[in-house]
Amino acid sequence: MASTTLTSGTRLRGTVRVPGDKSISHRALLFGAIAEGETQIEGLLPAEDPLSTAACLRAMGVEVSAIEAGQPVLVRGVGLDGLQEPAQVLDCGNSGTTMRLMLGLLAGRSGRHFVLDGDSSLRRRPMARVAKPLGQMGASIHGRQDGNLAPLAIQGRQLQGAVIRTPVASAQVKSALLLAGLSAEGPTTVIEPALSRDHSERMLRAFGADLVSEPQASGGPRVLITPGARLQGQRVVVPGDISSAAFWLVAGLLVPGAELLLENVGLNPSRTGILEVLEAMGAPLEILNERLVAGEPVGDLRVSPAPLKAFSIGGELIPRLVDEIPILAVAALAAEGTSVIRDAEELRVKETDRLAVMARQLRAMGAELEETSDGLVIPGGQQLHGASVDSETDHRVAMSLAVAALVARGSTNIARAEAAAVSYPNFWDDLSRLQAG
Ligand code: S3P
Repeated sequence: MASTTLTSGTRLRGTVRVPGDKSISHRALLFGAIAEGETQIEGLLPAEDPLSTAACLRAMGVEVSAIEAGQPVLVRGVGLDGLQEPAQVLDCGNSGTTMRLMLGLLAGRSGRHFVLDGDSSLRRRPMARVAKPLGQMGASIHGRQDGNLAPLAIQGRQLQGAVIRTPVASAQVKSALLLAGLSAEGPTTVIEPALSRDHSERMLRAFGADLVSEPQASGGPRVLITPGARLQGQRVVVPGDISSAAFWLVAGLLVPGAELLLENVGLNPSRTGILEVLEAMGAPLEILNERLVAGEPVGDLRVSPAPLKAFSIGGELIPRLVDEIPILAVAALAAEGTSVIRDAEELRVKETDRLAVMARQLRAMGAELEETSDGLVIPGGQQLHGASVDSETDHRVAMSLAVAALVARGSTNIARAEAAAVSYPNFWDDLSRLQAG
């Protein structure tokens, strides 16, 4: 699919079972690979990003069964030090999580050499945020810009535990350091400026790692990992991805007459910033059937349209909704009052510069908004018009523009709409089904 055309004025009704959480899917594959015994994963996201992680693991001798929607995935663990030196470059595709977590995992594989590469977007994304602190632990990582840009060469070495204060609240950085800490000499402590998603901590503990997370008076918790514990294969049930549900939440609030039920959505508190903002905007969200599935809180979400108030967000909330800012920008255009997003400079180093891309694409639909160095200022009450827009290869931009198109006057053509498959392979099918609903 090169492009897709959407027209406003359609219905939007029905039930969606959003695909598996992308962050948890990567971790289940990776931790399963380095555990002993078999890991069975249910609900794994069968999308391009987790497929990249699986392909890298297979290239290092790990058996991972076929990844198909609705089928459990089996990973035959090789143990922490069982990954083989790959004969080929490890292709991380578009996936920052794959590359950053692999850096942490592979830096400590003594005596083996690895090369990590990715697509043109990933080759532009900063890796020094992982390579530098890994360097403090003794890692050898080389690439363009002094080890900042892929392709990256890793010479595996025995690492030393360290106390590391990360400058950005990033779960990818934290997870890479915890993976390195698993086989370092001595314990490793990671302290972040604010809490980022904690799926690694939860799942590593479930696999048997010696990991303690202590909340601090301010900033993120202090996460201490002590090497020596043996990881054991587990059964992992992956909840639906709240970052994918977010597109339907906003669509359900904005499209007149919409009625949506989103089933099996992960509600980990380090990810639910979007719900807090939508509720503060006046969204009538109902959380039903709340339960705990394999250590992660899960629920169903019901949403229908309502008048919305503007929001102002920044600070420690940002890491808890970092992937939802593009779709929040769409919600802001329909709200009453001016919304402000601050402290979101991280968006500039995602799959695209999401602040610039969202501003550019929404302007093409008639929106007036201001792009600041670390966010957006978005006056509400704006009626968009249909236009030719472009995902610029970014999955979350593609899906945010789809929601904008549903409330624009006239029809909108979204170029490079296939980008959605990076995290949500059935997005366009789900949309057609809900429009027919
Ligand atoms: C992710 C962490 C976030 C997020 C990304 C997935 C993860 O990135 O944007 O989509 O799985 O750890 P950062 O950790 O760089 O903020």
